[in-house]
Amino acid sequence: MTLFPETVNAFLHESILGRASKKGILEINCVQIRDYTENKQRQVDDYPYGGGWGCVLMAQPLKSCLDSIMSTASGLRSRVIYLSPQGTPFTQETAKRLKRDYEHLVLVCGHYEGVDERFIEQCVDEEISLGDFVLTGGEIAAMAVADAVCRLVPGVLADEQCYTGESHWDGLLEYPQYTRPEVWEGREVPPVLLEGNHDRIGLWRRQKQLERTRERRPDMYAAFVPADKQDQELLRRVERAQDRVRLTEPVRWRPAEESDLTRILEIAAYARKTLRAHGVDQWQGEYPTEAAFRADIRRGECFVVTHGEETAAFFVLSRLPEESYEEIRDGKWSGVEPCGVLHRAAVAAEYRGGELSHRMLRCAEEQARAWGLRCLRTDTHKKNKAMRALLQDAGFRYRGNLTISTEPGHDPARQAYEKNLKDRA
Ligand SMILES: C[S@@+](CC[C@H](N)C(=O)[O-])C[C@H]1O[C@@H](n2cnc3c(N)ncnc32)[C@H](O)[C@@H]1O
Repeated sequence: MTLFPETVNAFLHESILGRASKKGILEINCVQIRDYTENKQRQVDDYPYGGGWGCVLMAQPLKSCLDSIMSTASGLRSRVIYLSPQGTPFTQETAKRLKRDYEHLVLVCGHYEGVDERFIEQCVDEEISLGDFVLTGGEIAAMAVADAVCRLVPGVLADEQCYTGESHWDGLLEYPQYTRPEVWEGREVPPVLLEGNHDRIGLWRRQKQLERTRERRPDMYAAFVPADKQDQELLRRVERAQDRVRLTEPVRWRPAEESDLTRILEIAAYARKTLRAHGVDQWQGEYPTEAAFRADIRRGECFVVTHGEETAAFFVLSRLPEESYEEIRDGKWSGVEPCGVLHRAAVAAEYRGGELSHRMLRCAEEQARAWGLRCLRTDTHKKNKAMRALLQDAGFRYRGNLTISTEPGHDPARQAYEKNLKDRA
C-alpha cells in the first residue's frame, strides 16, 4: 500500500524477484492508496489535530485500501505491517519469521508526517523499522522487507545455500568473496581458495566469518553460540590470534647483518621451544647453530623481516641446490628451474600464528623472484602442522618425502613442498 506504486513495482519486478514473479513463485502487487479516497479531490492526507508541521495520512483511504486487498486473500495466513521508524528494527530473523509464518504480507507505506494512529491501532499487526533514521516515506523500507523475505521463498534463489551461508543467517557475517582474475592490481586471491580442497576452504571461510564478526560486530560475536566442536576450536584460534601483535606498520625484509644475530637466535630459540612443546622432532639438536646463521649472513642468504622498526622474523633462502633434495620419495619435484631453497624460517613469539607468518613467506617469495628464481622448495617435519598449514595456505604443494642429514640423532624424515613462482608478478 503506497502513494508511489509505479516506483515500488518497477523495483520489485526487476532481476531475481522479477523472474520469480514471472514464474509464478511470488505475487507482488503495489496498490495505490489514493484510489480508495472518498472525496472528490482524491485527498489522502490532512493537517494534524493539535497543530504542528506537515500532514498525516487519513485512516479512511488506508482502511478501504486494506479491506480491498484482504478481500482477495481469504484463507491465507496474512500479516499487516506498517513500516515506521517507531517499529521494531528489521533483521534477518524477522525476515525468516515472516517467510515461515505467513503466506500474505501487506506492507503499509506511510508518508508526510505518518499515518493516523487509529488506523495503526485497529488494522496493523506489527510495526517494522528499517533502522534508527527517518525516511520521507515507507517505500524504501517496504522494498527492503519485501526483498529480504521474498528471496527466502523456495525457488526464488537457485539453492537454499545461496542464503543460508550469508551474513546474519546464523549469527555471523559472511567470509570475504573473490572472483576472477587471480591477481587484480597486485592483490592476490587467498591461495587456499585455488586449491580445490573443499574441507580446507570450508575451515578457512568459517574462521574468516568469526574473525570478521569479532572485528566488525562485537555485539553479534558476543551472542554467537558455536554450532559444533569445529566452531569451538576455530573460536579458540581466533581468540588466540587477538593476543598477537597486529600489523599496523609496514612489513619489509632486508639482508641480515651481524648485529641482527642476537635477535635471530632469540627467535630460533623460541621456535625450538614451541616445536618441542608440540612434540615435533625438528630443530631439537644443535641445528640451526649460531655458526650456521653467521655463514648464512656472510653469504647474503639470511634475511630479517621487519614490522616497523622491530625485527619480527627471519628466513634463510639459498640459490644453491640442496643435496638432500636430490632423492625424493613418493612423489617428485615439478622440474621448474631455476629453483631456490627456503632453509629456515621462524617468527618471533609475539607474532606466531598470525598474519606475519604469511607475510614472511611472501617476503621470501619476493626475494626469490628478485633473484630471478621461478620456483621455491622447502621441507618440514610431518608433525609440524603449523608450518604445513602455512605452506599450503601460501600455495606450496606437497611433493613427496625426503631424508635430511642436518640433525644427526633426530628424526631425519621431512615432507617436501614446492611453489611455482613463474606465474606471479
Ligand atoms: C517522515 S516519516 C514520519 C516519521 C514520524 N513523524 C516519526 O517521527 O515517527 C514518513 C513515513 O516514512 C516511513 N519511514 C520513515 N522512516 C522509516 C524507517 N526508519 N523505517 C521504516 N519506515 C520509515 C514511515 O512509513 C513513515 O510513516
